Amino acid sequence: MRLSVIGCGYLGAVHAAAMASIGHDVVGIDVDAEKVDALSRGLAPFFEPDLQKLLEAGAASGRLHFTTDIAAAAGADVHFLAVGTPQQRGAHAADLTYVDEAVEALIPHLRPGDVVAGKSTVPVGTAARLAPLVEATGAQLAWNPEFLREGWAVKDTIEPDRLVIGVGPDASAAVSALRRVYAPAVAAGTPFIVTDWATAELVKVAANAFLATKISFINAMAEIAEVTGADVTQLADALGHDARIGRRFLGAGIGFGGGCLPKDIRAFAARAEELGRGDSVAFLREVDAINLRRRDRAVELVVEGLGGSVFEKRVTLLGAAFKPYSDDIRDSPALDVAARLRGLGADVTVTDPAALDNARRQHPQLSYVDDRDEAIRGADAIVLVTEWDAYRRELTPEHASTLTDGRVVVDGRNGWDAAGWRAAGWTYLGMGRP
Ligand code: UGA
Repeated sequence: MRLSVIGCGYLGAVHAAAMASIGHDVVGIDVDAEKVDALSRGLAPFFEPDLQKLLEAGAASGRLHFTTDIAAAAGADVHFLAVGTPQQRGAHAADLTYVDEAVEALIPHLRPGDVVAGKSTVPVGTAARLAPLVEATGAQLAWNPEFLREGWAVKDTIEPDRLVIGVGPDASAAVSALRRVYAPAVAAGTPFIVTDWATAELVKVAANAFLATKISFINAMAEIAEVTGADVTQLADALGHDARIGRRFLGAGIGFGGGCLPKDIRAFAARAEELGRGDSVAFLREVDAINLRRRDRAVELVVEGLGGSVFEKRVTLLGAAFKPYSDDIRDSPALDVAARLRGLGADVTVTDPAALDNARRQHPQLSYVDDRDEAIRGADAIVLVTEWDAYRRELTPEHASTLTDGRVVVDGRNGWDAAGWRAAGWTYLGMGRP
């Protein structure tokens, strides 16, 4: 099929490349000329495993193109909207400017029978608001939320765990078009859920709200563990054996960040307020508050580990990205902790295998060192904030001891073996662990 993808960020670039890889003819469209130029040359503009390979293959096959010209969407059977919906400045609601602009720009290029499929995460009610504009051209509007995780985006796009298609009345053509788009996944038995617009929009925000709540739940338990001497990691293991609860997303630590979970729960709460149902998701404010408190806690632990003050102490942060296998630093707990320590007068060094260029742009006041061991050399305290393998699995206390005389580690991701660090002579401080 011929597809257009409007917006080529973390979501759209991967979607475009993945759709070309399963045989479609795809044009990716973005207003950012630099990004389009990189993508056109087969270069991934951000770190995402396997994306580079897909871009190269797409370019070689002649089925994948990128442009800044929205007119290139003309002639596509399905047009995916994959633009960002960031948090509004000074408010919790989502900023829909990019979605509105994309739809407006696309309208003149739609033909009767085309399908516009929204993938962006939007407040419930957005599709119903946009539908008349799209339908006036004879095209149909579907909402097809995306559940990919950064770091696994290619796999999640090609082999999703479910496909959700929200449509308006009489939209069977949109459903069959999207069934054809996702034919390989459908043939592999992926659940293909056809529903209305509002449900499709809600599936997305409800999923992220649930995940955020699960993380904040275990982080709340970490706070209780901290005053009782319990160990939240053992608690999570024991809870996780109950199949109804499950161990995934019960990782206590410095909490969630990124371009999705934090802004999505805030936008959901704001939308619920508008709908007169603020009370229904009032708990999301608590989820947000617990999450942010864990960043304070990590800072407290570093201060405690260094004897009550970090002033002029050398603190090395292992990680800058909001999670491993990503260079995304949007609302990164790692950088937030780094900036706060710096604010307290610490001499902060940050290292990360992928995110340093982005981090430098956002926090020029911090020092950055590419090499892990160089970053650790001479540190008074080491803080694990993003659980890359190079830090969590591969850095041993014995090796760290050869790099510095400092003997304090703060494990912001509960990724290390406390006993091992202690046995090697380190003061180990975890999150919700004795
Ligand atoms: C999240 C969802 O998992 C995806 O399904 C969704 O499509 C995406 O948002 C989106 O809306 O686009 P992502 O932001 O890539 O994906 O990251 P996650 O893997 O969900 O991690 C989010 C944050 O939670 C990270 O900062 C991570 O370190 C933290 N986390 C995760 C924990 O603190 N503890 C855990 O146990 C798990």
